[in-house]
Amino acid sequence: MIDQLLNAKDLAKSFEDGASTRAVLRRISVSLKAGETLALCGPSGSGKSTLLNLLAGVIAPDAGEVWLTLPDGSMNLASLSEKQRSAVRRRHMGYVFQFFNLVPTLTVRENVLLPLELAGREALAEEALSRLSSLGLDTRLNDFPETLSGGERQRTAIARALAHRPLLVLADEPTGNLDAERSEGVVSELWKAVREQGCALVVATHSEAVAQRADRVLRLDAPPSEGA
Ligand SMILES: Nc1ncnc2c1ncn2[C@@H]1O[C@H](COP(=O)(O)OP(=O)(O)OP(=O)(O)O)[C@@H](O)[C@H]1O
Ligand SMILES: [Mg+2]
Repeated sequence: MIDQLLNAKDLAKSFEDGASTRAVLRRISVSLKAGETLALCGPSGSGKSTLLNLLAGVIAPDAGEVWLTLPDGSMNLASLSEKQRSAVRRRHMGYVFQFFNLVPTLTVRENVLLPLELAGREALAEEALSRLSSLGLDTRLNDFPETLSGGERQRTAIARALAHRPLLVLADEPTGNLDAERSEGVVSELWKAVREQGCALVVATHSEAVAQRADRVLRLDAPPSEGA
């Protein structure tokens, strides 16, 4: 049984902004066990997407560490090569990007099946296609992302992130483009993955309804004003 799946300690991240430096995150810690859910809330620019990128190892913190305890052992993301981090993401993480990042040259079906190929888990194809159907996309399987609405792209991105049964799901405003009914559908798929597959979920959201479903809420502060 995996105990602490994710343990991020004292993360700090700043970005160069012309001549000045903008501190976005200061000493943020996050830890999650399998089956736990955390909502990241805070105003636009408070660093929700930045924190998700740090947890995924897509960007590196200026200070602090991100540890993952996976079936193959505990690892500090910073101690891995870029190639190893990428392999960990493919195998163990599902990332719903704020702007979806679907592959434009692949259809809905192909986008969702791609992580199964990359993780060598093609046996999960049927489950992944049935999730697409639950998300109301069964008539769009052969369509390309550019022909989809924002909400349809978002739902495709969610089906893709969950397809390979990742241990850690990072979802960036997964209901940002959806009406109330579709939001509920997406939230219910995410929480179903937590319940049935025991993944840990970190969800950045502006929705209080989504935040209330999470076990814990981390509220990030408003970005510092100019010159602060
Ligand atoms: N690659 C980057 N280079 C420079 N600044 C960046 C970069 N990424 C993020 N930032 C800055 O960091 C701050 C936090 O951005 P982030 O995208 O994490 O906010 P957010 O909380 O996700 O906002 P939103 O709710 O609008 O999605 C912003 O001021 C943004 O301009
Ligand atoms: Mg964001």
